[in-house]
Amino acid sequence: SLDSFKGVLNNRFYIGTALSNEQLIREDNKILREAANQFNAIVPENCMKSALIHPQKEVYNFTLADRFIEYGLQHDMWMTGHTLIWHSQTPDWFFKDSNGNEVKRDELIHRMKDHITTLVHRYKDFIKGWDVVNEAIEDDGSYRETKFYKIIGPEYINLAFKFAREADPKAELYYNDYSMTLPEKRAGVIRMIRALQRQGIRVDGIGMQGHVNLTSPSIEAFENSIVAYADLGVKVMITEFDISVLPFPNEHLGADINTTVSYKEQLNPYKEKLPDTIQQKFNDRCFDFFKLFLKYDKAITRVTVWGVSDEYSWKNDWPITGRTDYPLLIGRNHKPKEILKQLTTYVA
Ligand code: G3I
Repeated sequence: SLDSFKGVLNNRFYIGTALSNEQLIREDNKILREAANQFNAIVPENCMKSALIHPQKEVYNFTLADRFIEYGLQHDMWMTGHTLIWHSQTPDWFFKDSNGNEVKRDELIHRMKDHITTLVHRYKDFIKGWDVVNEAIEDDGSYRETKFYKIIGPEYINLAFKFAREADPKAELYYNDYSMTLPEKRAGVIRMIRALQRQGIRVDGIGMQGHVNLTSPSIEAFENSIVAYADLGVKVMITEFDISVLPFPNEHLGADINTTVSYKEQLNPYKEKLPDTIQQKFNDRCFDFFKLFLKYDKAITRVTVWGVSDEYSWKNDWPITGRTDYPLLIGRNHKPKEILKQLTTYVA
């Protein structure tokens, strides 16, 4: 039907949402019903990250991930796995041997293989695409010096894709990262993907995380990147899309902003209510992005927003906790925002 995002965008690309742990735990969950009405794709916001699903060497905890799959099957949704190899939210044990020293290269490769194979095998046929490696490139285009990088070398990326491919030859395998519009970073990502392709490693898609705000990045910069990544012959996905309407405390990074009350108030201007003018800016900005995504719907196979509704978004707690942000497609009143009507008229 046309009163949902999935109805309006049908046949153009999947429109997905992230599901939080809290949402998955609650059985009779209004949010989960809303998600099924509005979206036709899902990704777990946290429950498949290694710290949660593989907390100790011999311990896997599949409860929430299984619940995620069950829900996706029930509603016939495209399911993406997030994320196999990432420097963040990897448990400490991963990099330590039994004496507490840094793990040796061969052993780390073995652990990566065990982790990737176990997850990809378990959810084979259900998870249709995996974020295999997340955020491996710095903003200046160099490799991020993660523990995987330092201990294994840049080949950890090839190996991750190889292990995932062996575990499920049919799944789509992706590279996912943020700030993908920065020219130097884009060049670095393209170098890395080309190097993988030269070595015969198939990468099916690139995920451009879409954590944007009302002004940055420009639509033009975003467009340049969509085109540049699509030119590699891979699918492009807009992942983790949200539009923060709040000020970003750039100039105060490093200061203890959470304890400076007046400053925190200043950075939380829409605590009671979002002014119509800002709401309008959000809708216009969101519409501009969706027009761009629709323009490239041959390359873009999925757009996923990073949360179901404003009430629950990581942006309410980042980079300062306890703010009131309005970054998503569905408001705190649990109604789709004006952007749905704008899109409906636009695609008609
Ligand atoms: O669930 C626990 C709770 O029990 C505990 O009391 C509380 C105290 O800190 O922490 C809760 O866990 C938090 C979890 O979110 C659930 O809210 C973690 O501390 C917190 O670190 C975690 O943040 C997640 C973040 O990744 C971790 O780096 C965000 O939810 C999640 O939205 C965010 O997602 C990432 C993508 O995976 C990759 N790209 C960037 C994106 C935004 O950072």
